[in-house]
Amino acid sequence: MFGKRSSGGKSKALTKRAPSVGNTTSPPPEAKPAAESPEAVKPTGAQSHDAAPQKKVEEPAVSVIEQKSEDYYEIKTTIFNALIDTIDLAQLAQLDAESARDEIRDIVNEIIAIKNVVMSIAEQESLLQDICNDVLGYGPLEPLLARDDIADIMVNGAERVFIEVNGKIQLTPIRFRDNGQLMNICQRIVSQVGRRVDESSPICDARLPDGSRVNVIAPPLALDGPTLTIRKFKKDKLKLVDLQNFGTITPEGAEVLAIIGACRCNVLISGGTGSGKTTLLNCLTAYIADDERVITCEDAAELQLQQPHVVRLETRPPNLEGQGEITMRDLVRNCLRMRPERIIVGEVRGPEAFDLLQAMNTGHDGSMGTLHANTPREAMSRLESMITMGGFNLPSRTIREMICGSIDVIVQTSRLRDGSRRITNITEVLGMEGEVIITQDLFIYDIEGDDESGRVLGQHRSTGIARPAFWDRARYFGKERELATALEAADIS
Ligand SMILES: Nc1ncnc2c1ncn2[C@@H]1O[C@H](COP(=O)(O)OP(=O)(O)OP(=O)(O)O)[C@@H](O)[C@H]1O
Ligand SMILES: [Mg+2]
Repeated sequence: MFGKRSSGGKSKALTKRAPSVGNTTSPPPEAKPAAESPEAVKPTGAQSHDAAPQKKVEEPAVSVIEQKSEDYYEIKTTIFNALIDTIDLAQLAQLDAESARDEIRDIVNEIIAIKNVVMSIAEQESLLQDICNDVLGYGPLEPLLARDDIADIMVNGAERVFIEVNGKIQLTPIRFRDNGQLMNICQRIVSQVGRRVDESSPICDARLPDGSRVNVIAPPLALDGPTLTIRKFKKDKLKLVDLQNFGTITPEGAEVLAIIGACRCNVLISGGTGSGKTTLLNCLTAYIADDERVITCEDAAELQLQQPHVVRLETRPPNLEGQGEITMRDLVRNCLRMRPERIIVGEVRGPEAFDLLQAMNTGHDGSMGTLHANTPREAMSRLESMITMGGFNLPSRTIREMICGSIDVIVQTSRLRDGSRRITNITEVLGMEGEVIITQDLFIYDIEGDDESGRVLGQHRSTGIARPAFWDRARYFGKERELATALEAADIS
């Protein structure tokens, strides 16, 4: 298959020509976008790798991600350039990952020998790994993608890569050769879902093959180089019991949430960015009965429903000519014609709020959605302004009545200053008093202060409501005993 190899002596025959350093001939045009063009590969000697911010990296990141010397990057660039000049990328692209790695290994070893590069075996292995990642995978992102403890990867140009671990954002020593390499990797990611990112279409959403959600915004919109944000996909989705173990909610609170999910309350999950809204929504969907027809609408599919009867829908951005966009509103409206029993909207951010509320109001009990807001009350006013801005010429009182008539429960999630995530309110929407929507909290989280290590101290408490407004609903679904027990236990604790 690797024609040049089979026609002669081992590595020599494999290659386009003898390895040479400094040759800037471009790879063949059909080359996999994976491998950056040699033009994009510049020596990194001038870059200030020891810049102060890298020293600020917190312990856990440094201990896992090896910080490499300036010399290492220089050698890697030299060898990488020689490799790109030498290898036939088009043929390499035909190989499976394992064989491609073997090919690269042979050539890299040969280059090391020719260039008389002095390296330990461990260094050689690490270099080979990095080069394979550059040519075959997502380059310097690979070690981060392999870690399951990372929630987000945030790349702000070639020099700054941040990660979120345990709710805390840390700077890593990872860097790209230059913005060209980073842009190539962004391009490689988005091309897998048939999209393109460049100066003419600098914003792009995509997904990695493992399901991670990706956003790319490139220059000229991003001033400091391509900016890549990845919400890592957790293979093992968190469950309500995990949230309980993390202290996000008490066991009694979790029980009440499970009952809310099971007895088909209409739920809005409100919270800041990365506060755990989607995770909680996914947890609540676990309590949907198997015989219900559920339709999910998302911008990038993140939910993982386990029920047998689920239809998953995803929005679509406009194409390069600005056509073909399918908005969340289109999806939600279409869903109404698909005989859904429950509609789940990944994130409500625009006029689809109106359609979701209408659906909730018209026999699709148990519908759910998430929304960016900092308090349950703010969530309701955001809903109101989304509907107003959607051009539905409705008086504010009518919109508020719609909200009251549709939403049963608002669950507020927060990422606290120590990085921990908490459910801070489980709030019921009761009705209107004059122009004002009346709510009642069932559970709240009180912050009491910080301990010496900076961890936020606080506790969940029940507000003592023994008969929530959804009591009758719970009784209808045969859950009133569990509800009473959970609320009673919460009240005592
Ligand atoms: N209670 C929790 N405890 C610990 N980690 C959590 C918790 N909830 C969510 N996470 C983790 O936090 C990250 C962000 O969660 P999630 O995607 O649910 O947030 P989000 O509020 O939907 O974010 P966005 O606003 O970007 O959509 C994920 O990696 C998730 O696994
Ligand atoms: Mg989300």
